[in-house]
Amino acid sequence: MHVDLYEKIWMWASAAVIVLFVGTVGYAAVARGVHPPSHVETIDPGQARSDPRFATPGVAIRPDGRAEVVVLAQMFAFQPAEVRVPAGRPVTFRLTSADVIHGFQIVRTNANTMVVPGYVSQFTTVFTEPGEYLIVCNEYCGLAHHVMQGRLIVEEAR
Ligand code: CUA
Repeated sequence: MHVDLYEKIWMWASAAVIVLFVGTVGYAAVARGVHPPSHVETIDPGQARSDPRFATPGVAIRPDGRAEVVVLAQMFAFQPAEVRVPAGRPVTFRLTSADVIHGFQIVRTNANTMVVPGYVSQFTTVFTEPGEYLIVCNEYCGLAHHVMQGRLIVEEAR
């Protein structure tokens, strides 16, 4: 069967692009550790308030200086509403929702995740600039969605 030269070029070019894209995704995931900002950890949303993982929301500083922030989201507040973390240290956020889907975005930082009932959202970031940051819910969650907010205070590391 005769295949025209130009057609051959396009076929090989298309195949090369597919191989390149799949290869890029594989390289990023395997070699560079690029993953979605969550992990698959489930929770019963009806029991989220009493679940040991979320019964006492707040900030815990580990002996190595890393901070862990546990946040429970529900209509129409984050608990705790104010979070204090040290600057320049890894901060791991763990969030879940006790009712509907919420968002958790710390304005002017790269911290931004959905908070989905039934799942624990987790991500780690470092805040380099001390100061006050606004935390907003960026998923429409009901009548008072627009007042659902919190405050992050990044303190100079001691
Ligand atoms: Cu919670 Cu919008």
